[in-house]
Amino acid sequence: MSYRSDALEYSKKNLDNYQEILQDFIKIPSISTDPKQKSSMLEAADFVRSLLIKFGIVDVQILETKGHPVVFAEKKATVENASTVLIYGHYDVQPSDPVDLWLTNPFSPVEKGDRLLGRGTSDMKGQIIACLAAYNAVSASGPIPVNFKFLFEGEEEIGSPNLPDFLSSHKELLECDIILNPDAGMISPNNPTIVYGLRGLTYFELNLTGPDHDLHSGMFGGVIHNPAIVLAELIVGMHDENWKVTLPGFYEDVLPLSEEEREQLLRLPITDEDLKRQTGVPELWGETGYNPIERLGCRPTLEISGMLSGFVGEGSKTIIPSSAMAKISMRTVPNQDPEKIFEQLRKYLEMNVPSTVRWDLQKFAGGWASISDRNNPGVISLTKALETVWGVKPLFKREGGSIPVVASMQRILGKESVLTGFGLPEDKIHSPNESLHLPTWKKGILSLIHFFYNYAGIE
Ligand code: BES
Ligand code: MN
Repeated sequence: MSYRSDALEYSKKNLDNYQEILQDFIKIPSISTDPKQKSSMLEAADFVRSLLIKFGIVDVQILETKGHPVVFAEKKATVENASTVLIYGHYDVQPSDPVDLWLTNPFSPVEKGDRLLGRGTSDMKGQIIACLAAYNAVSASGPIPVNFKFLFEGEEEIGSPNLPDFLSSHKELLECDIILNPDAGMISPNNPTIVYGLRGLTYFELNLTGPDHDLHSGMFGGVIHNPAIVLAELIVGMHDENWKVTLPGFYEDVLPLSEEEREQLLRLPITDEDLKRQTGVPELWGETGYNPIERLGCRPTLEISGMLSGFVGEGSKTIIPSSAMAKISMRTVPNQDPEKIFEQLRKYLEMNVPSTVRWDLQKFAGGWASISDRNNPGVISLTKALETVWGVKPLFKREGGSIPVVASMQRILGKESVLTGFGLPEDKIHSPNESLHLPTWKKGILSLIHFFYNYAGIE
C-alpha cells in the first residue's frame, strides 16, 4: 500500500460526502453580475473558506478587491523540498435566466440519472469541489506532498475586472511552480483533455437612440428612421458574404496556425455530428475556408449576445421604438489586442451609423487569449494522471471559451497554468438546465489525487 492508494480509497469512501458539499454550494446563488446577489457572493466566499477550514487549513483569508472578494489559502507540504501548486477556481456563476426554461430550480440541485442539475454544477463549483475533495483525500492519507495554495475569485464570469490588480499586489503570496486551472472542460466522457489555448473576450453594449420617446408608427412612420432597423442593418454589416468579420483591421494581428499544429488539431475526435447533437441545430455555420475545430479554437468571432428594442410583450403595439440596444461580443485569438478591437468597432460605427440616430458604445471587462506551455512538469504530471484513470492518453485542445486570468497570470506573475476540467460539452453551461456528469466528476477527483503525487514525484 502507498499513501497514494490510501488517498484514492479515502476519496472513494467520501464521494457521497463530497457530492453533498457540492449541493450545498450550488444552493448559494452567487451570480457575480447581479448587484442583488451581493450577499450571496459573500456567502459563497465564506462557504469556500469554511470548507477549507473543515479540510484542515488554518490559514484561510478573505481578501477584498474593488469587486467581489478573493478567497486565499495555503497549506505547506510536510515533505522536504516540495513544489508549490496553486489551484485556481471561481466561485461565481452565470445568471440563471431565462428561469422559465429550467426544468428544475437552478439553485436547488437535483440528481437525475447520472447527472446533477443546477447552476454552477459544471462551471465551475463542481470543479472547485473536485479539487478540494482531492486535497482532502491527500491530506488525510499521509504526508502532504506539495505546497498547496488556493485562489478562488468571484468575478470570472464578468471578465475578472479586479483580478489583474489583485495579482499585481499579491505576487509574493501567489508565488508557485504551477497553476492548476480546472475550468476548461473535456471533449467527451472518454477523452480527458488538457487545454493549451483559450480565446479572449471583448464585450460591448451598443445603444442607439432615435426619437426621444416611442412614436405612433402611423403618425411618424415614413419620416423617422427606426432604431431597431438601424441596429439590424449595422449588425448584418458586421459580417461579409464569407462570414468574415468586417471591422477594419480585425484579422490584422491573427497569427496563422503552423501546419503541424493544424494537423494535430484536426485529428481531435470532434465531428460535425457531435456539434449538432450538442447544440440541437439543423446545420453548422461559420467562416469560409476553416473547419469547425479551427473556427472554434483558433479563429476570432463576433457574436450578438442580446438585443432589445421596442414592444416585446404579448399581442401588438404600433410604435416606432425610441431606442435599440445590442450586446456585442468578440472571441479573440492570441496576439489580438482587446483595446484595438474596441477602436475597430468604434471606427466601424463612425463609418456606418446613419445620421438619423445617436449612438453610444460601452465596453465591459474581457481579457486576452492565451496559449499555455505544453511541456512543463505540470502538464506531464497531469497527462500521466489522466491516463491512469481513463486508460487513454489525454487530448490536447485549444478551447473556444475564455478564462482571462490565464493570460493575466502569465503576464503579471510569469506563471503557467495547466488547464483541464471534468465538464462536458453537453453540460449546458451558461444556459438553462446546466448539469454535471457525476461519473466523470468522480474520475476527475481520482485523477487530481494522482496529479498531486505525480507532481511531487511520489509513487
Ligand atoms: N469555464 C468557462 C470557460 C470555458 C468554457 C472553458 C467552455 C472551456 C470550455 C468560464 O467560466 C467562462 O465561461 N468564461 C467566460 C469568460 C468571460 C466572461 C470573460 C466566457 O468564456 O464566456
Ligand atoms: Mn463560465
